[in-house]
Amino acid sequence: MSPTSPATAEAEALTSQAVPAAATEEVVVLDYGGQYSQLIARRVRECGVFSELLPHHVGAAEVARRRPKGVILSGGPASVYADGAPRLEREVLELGIPVLGICYGMQLLARELGGRVEGAEVGEFGRSQLTVRDSGRLLAGTPSEQTCWMSHRDTVFEPPPGFTALAASTASPVAAFESHAREVYGIQFHPEVIHTPYGNQVLTNFLADVCGCERSWSPRSVIDEQIDRIRAQVGDGRAICGLSGGVDSSVAALLVHRAIGDRLTCVFVDHGLMRKNEGAQVIAAFRDHFRVPLVAVDASERFLGRLRGVSDPEEKRKRIGAEFIRVFEEEAAKLEDVAYLVQGTLYSDVIESGGGTGAATIKSHHNVGGLPENVGFDLVEPLRALFKDEVRAVGAELGLPERLVWRQPFPGPGLAIRIVGGEATRERLETLREADAILQDEIRKAGLYRELWQSFCVLPDVRTVGVQGDTRTYGNVIVIRAVTSDDAMTADWARLPYDLLEQIASRMINEIRPVGRVVLDITSKPPGTIEWE
Ligand code: XMP
Repeated sequence: MSPTSPATAEAEALTSQAVPAAATEEVVVLDYGGQYSQLIARRVRECGVFSELLPHHVGAAEVARRRPKGVILSGGPASVYADGAPRLEREVLELGIPVLGICYGMQLLARELGGRVEGAEVGEFGRSQLTVRDSGRLLAGTPSEQTCWMSHRDTVFEPPPGFTALAASTASPVAAFESHAREVYGIQFHPEVIHTPYGNQVLTNFLADVCGCERSWSPRSVIDEQIDRIRAQVGDGRAICGLSGGVDSSVAALLVHRAIGDRLTCVFVDHGLMRKNEGAQVIAAFRDHFRVPLVAVDASERFLGRLRGVSDPEEKRKRIGAEFIRVFEEEAAKLEDVAYLVQGTLYSDVIESGGGTGAATIKSHHNVGGLPENVGFDLVEPLRALFKDEVRAVGAELGLPERLVWRQPFPGPGLAIRIVGGEATRERLETLREADAILQDEIRKAGLYRELWQSFCVLPDVRTVGVQGDTRTYGNVIVIRAVTSDDAMTADWARLPYDLLEQIASRMINEIRPVGRVVLDITSKPPGTIEWE
């Protein structure tokens, strides 16, 4: 593949700033479209080795440029015999770097190197029993009988010549193979999912014993590395960072502050659409505790003014987004010589925006309430190489309060898009904010906060009849929405305990005068979305 090909440009775009300094050891995961590809990269990192996910077609030269200690070929939905099925570039096997194929990746290796892969009569999906005949290097230290997680129809029936078949399962005559001499390894099962109890051991065998990785990637090393990098980029310049109170912008700001000290100024725009006490917590953490120069702007009047009479959700988003940029730019203009803008872009954003049209569209929609890319500053993006859980680990290492480290995602337009079908007035915001505070309080007390992807309240613009004491009431409805999810693309409604729900509902009705009824949303995504607007 030529150096100027679109795939190479894509890989460069994906990794510019993502790759740590050359000294950092790295393992490349080539993505064949499997649902667990990102998880493989995350697991490798959990084993202490930096790992990057690249599209499978980037080419051997691109892989070699990173001088990885190992290459992992991910699973994927195709059959190796299908027309147009993604291929393995032969040169990848000639780089002299150990290769591990997982599922589809193993089948590609088998086919390329002269083994026999065929469609089996029955597929193998879910838990399976693995019998190890020869543990070799790859399965060393794991028992001869073990469970593993499978998800395939095609199966390797014979390993390539010169390879040892290590294990079999009910539907996979060759469920693992290796050639120590060629440094090529394959497993049909998924070591990256938790249902494979010895998966971590298998990955560690590959990373440590086969590739000789030193396991030096950790939140501590990320911090040191990024501080050097930020200093090199910003020099003696000045930077600005928009703090939202979310974990991404908070960790990005702290890292940059560690690197350049008071040459960073944070701007926190309180648009009046935050949850209870959120603004105060951000100010207490950054200004009072970390002593980061912080401009906190109370712009709630401005935002509420812009939202007057607006009930259409997209119009709300547009107006809030535009107003946010206006306020931020006004504050930025008051600071002198600022050339850099700090943003909390994550590795998953980087992968998504390079990884497909659908993902990119979803992102732009959800970016409402953020800043456009061309605001006239150079971007500093210290989290570009990190997954969300790594950002949390770095945040904890930097001393960020637990509440900010584990904060659930919160939309940029805030509570305004949770007042559904009507205007976000001050009174309604107050009702919603109080209801939300009760919900969070009870969920935290029940120890469920971290288990939920998001938990929040919605206030529809309707009133319903009730009776309190001997009086007829005509009050607001509060909807409880709580979901579990891995990435917000799909979500399931959380099965909160009945007693907890009762406690939440009765507190809302007793403590918040306008609330007359509480209901629970039991819609998953799809078909619903997480938010109501
Ligand atoms: P939906 O409602 O589409 O939401 O299932 C998926 C995730 O995106 C968040 N979300 C937003 N985030 N600005 C944001 O910054 C927005 O306008 C916005 N709308 C939805 C939502 O909270 C969930 O985490």
